[in-house]
Amino acid sequence: PANIGILGLEYYFPSKFVDQAELEQFDGVSAGKYTIGLGQTQMGVCDDREDINSISLTVVKNLLEKHNIDPKDVGFLEVGTETIIDKSKAVKTVLMSLFEESGNHDVEGIDTKNACYGGTASVFHAVNWVESSSWDGRYAIVVSADIAAYAEGPARPTGGAGAVAILIGPNAPVVFDQGVRSTHMNHLWDFYKPELGSEYPTVDGHFSNTCYIRSVDACYSLFAKKFTKRYGANPDKLIKSQDLDHCVFHAPNCKLVQKAYGRMAYNDMLQDPENEDYAPIKEYLKFGLSEESYYDKGLERAMMQFTKADYQKKVLPSLYASTNVGNMYTASVWACVSTLFSETSDEELLNKRVGIYSYGSGSAASFFSVKVVGSTEKFRETLQIKKRLTERTKIAPQEFVNLLKLREETGHLKNYNPVGDVSDMPKGTYYLERVDEKFRRHYLRA
Ligand code: ACO
Repeated sequence: PANIGILGLEYYFPSKFVDQAELEQFDGVSAGKYTIGLGQTQMGVCDDREDINSISLTVVKNLLEKHNIDPKDVGFLEVGTETIIDKSKAVKTVLMSLFEESGNHDVEGIDTKNACYGGTASVFHAVNWVESSSWDGRYAIVVSADIAAYAEGPARPTGGAGAVAILIGPNAPVVFDQGVRSTHMNHLWDFYKPELGSEYPTVDGHFSNTCYIRSVDACYSLFAKKFTKRYGANPDKLIKSQDLDHCVFHAPNCKLVQKAYGRMAYNDMLQDPENEDYAPIKEYLKFGLSEESYYDKGLERAMMQFTKADYQKKVLPSLYASTNVGNMYTASVWACVSTLFSETSDEELLNKRVGIYSYGSGSAASFFSVKVVGSTEKFRETLQIKKRLTERTKIAPQEFVNLLKLREETGHLKNYNPVGDVSDMPKGTYYLERVDEKFRRHYLRA
């Protein structure tokens, strides 16, 4: 099949949010730390009515409805997440409740788990399925979803929650470039969740930022080589970050994304040190890819300054949901992809290429790209992200803290009736009705 890619996207975020400037005040940190220092404006929050199953049900059901997909026409469904509420029963099996009524049980795929990266792995699996001898002509759907919550402390303002469903198949308007996926994985303890009774990770925050940037170096430089070989105009001249029309990143916080984009240009400079374009910043060449290069604030600032105009044009538009919802772990990078397609016109997108960087702690990272070959009007029509974000309810920082406490205290109970208010949930949102005496979870739809 030709032009295998993205046929549709659906994005769900919580209906409640807290304002980051108010949170700065509430937490007693200096004004600007979360909003400027981390680049975060608002943060989405879930009460005890939502879990990984409910947000995944919501996003898949809405995708099927908005795109008029007959459940029988789906042959592959996989969930990429880092959230575990049941150690053996996959979220995918819960989602089968949306397909059983149609009589369709012949749906390949199951859950893929890793911090922030599971969704990307599932997208690769879905593309591989469509490209393979197992493909039977039907659609693939990937769900990338998580509720991101941190214990009290410096990481807490980088929480959030979201779910993205990605419809994949041939003859798509947004096509995955073949032969360019570049991956870098290694064994690190930067962020992990060893306490199975808690939603909160154990995180070495500053170390995880460096791990993210190191993987940018590894993945992007490999991507540049693969891409140049396969699609480059001149096989002897490596492509540069500027050759990508848009760049989308996993966004733990928006400031880190800006640093990552600067770091791509730094890699470009290291490959082409004589180029006059780099004259204003050539003093930083001395760092190379040394250990020091990851900690030198002058280098970081210089690269952010050097790429500022491109960043504003090619990266910032995809971060609108991230700055207003926060980190969504596996859903983060796909929420950025969704935002780009929700808010950008055909004129700006047609024949353009988008580089995508996905990072998951532990660690697993990839850089790959898509090309827009057709109209994405349907994406704009169905996603409406900016508009939907204005329809949320703002809660005060104290209420935000109370909701997280409620989740902490009740998240693993049996025989539990959730108490969260469902009145502000958009129509079509699934929510937890009850956890029965055998821990079985029951859901209703608003
Ligand atoms: N005005 C403007 N900027 C400010 C202000 C202020 N008043 N105060 C601080 N800042 C800046 C700092 O200079 C810093 O920016 P810089 O790194 O560009 O120099 C930034 O705000 C953050 O301040 P720190 O003091 O570094 O913050 P802290 O150490 O308290 O926490 C951290 C930051 C470690 C990133 C924390 O939020 C965290 O642990 N997050 C979770 C881990 C994470 O997301 N990792 C990323 C990859 S892994 C993943 O996706 C989960």
